[in-house]
Amino acid sequence: MNEFEGRVAVVTGAASGIGLALAERFAKEGMRVALADVEATPLERAAQRLADRGADVVSVLTDVSRPEQVQALADRTLEAFGAVHVVCNNAGVFSSGRLWDAPLDDYEWLMGVNVYGVVHGIRTFVPILLEQGEAGHVVNTASMAAVTSMPWTGIYFMTKHAVLSLSETLYHELTQQGAKIGVSVVCPEVIATAIDRSDRNRPDEFQLGATEAADETRKLVNEGLSAGVQSGVPPARIADRTLEAIRANRFYVLAEDAWRRSCDTRLEDIRLARNPTFAPPVEEN
Ligand SMILES: NC(=O)c1ccc[n+]([C@@H]2O[C@H](COP(=O)([O-])OP(=O)(O)OC[C@H]3O[C@@H](n4cnc5c(N)ncnc54)[C@H](O)[C@@H]3O)[C@@H](O)[C@H]2O)c1
Repeated sequence: MNEFEGRVAVVTGAASGIGLALAERFAKEGMRVALADVEATPLERAAQRLADRGADVVSVLTDVSRPEQVQALADRTLEAFGAVHVVCNNAGVFSSGRLWDAPLDDYEWLMGVNVYGVVHGIRTFVPILLEQGEAGHVVNTASMAAVTSMPWTGIYFMTKHAVLSLSETLYHELTQQGAKIGVSVVCPEVIATAIDRSDRNRPDEFQLGATEAADETRKLVNEGLSAGVQSGVPPARIADRTLEAIRANRFYVLAEDAWRRSCDTRLEDIRLARNPTFAPPVEEN
């Protein structure tokens, strides 16, 4: 897809971080943008910011883990703009802790947003894109967590593996069908966003108990993540990378740092059928 002016983009998780940067980048190309997020005030602020710069936007309060809300997002987008061309299934949340210590609530929350959010996005929007028959593109935000495994962050990594697999399958299925719909999976390194404050969106039914909140591994990982995002790559860089990928019909949009070596090590482990290497992303001097 290389015509952007006047086309329509839908972005979930658009009130903050990578989603907001994507929405801004699309608006800069002259696209009309539907911004979706579960957080009402930041969502309104984001939509206002884009509108103040002359962009044609709508904002739709959406919990991507709920299929009927994703359907309502599609309905509102079509009502406002009459079509959809780029769909970014981007909303995501993070939690940490050992696999056997983490409460089932963490599994359910992350599966709901990170995996089912993408599933609902695909099931809702791909039929619309196919029906339109115009050039389109689906962008799923995974992570380098999709191509490696690390201790204490297993639930998040598991969900991102699922997003990568869903995206690869979507690519094969659309290609086999000869559809004019590209697919990209975005696998960023650590980005300067509010992902370390994901708990702000933790639903009431998944609130942590006192023991879980005091869990030492959880605290350690969260401190590390907060330090990481403070010096993380600007989200605008990911938005640029993503736009280039849509234009070039490039599927994998990967990190540009030491995470690539962690990924290579993991793939080599599998190729050689050797036991998993612990290969955290350490920059070489
Ligand atoms: N920041 C990083 O280092 C990093 C690295 C790799 C991948 N990612 C992925 O990037 C994506 C965007 O995250 P970010 O880093 O910009 O974080 P962020 O917290 O800044 O933005 C995420 C947005 O998603 C929204 N959201 C949360 N739950 C939602 C729900 N149920 N329905 C709709 N919206 C919801 C939040 O309100 C927020 O606006 C996520 O999928 C994340 O896993 C982030």
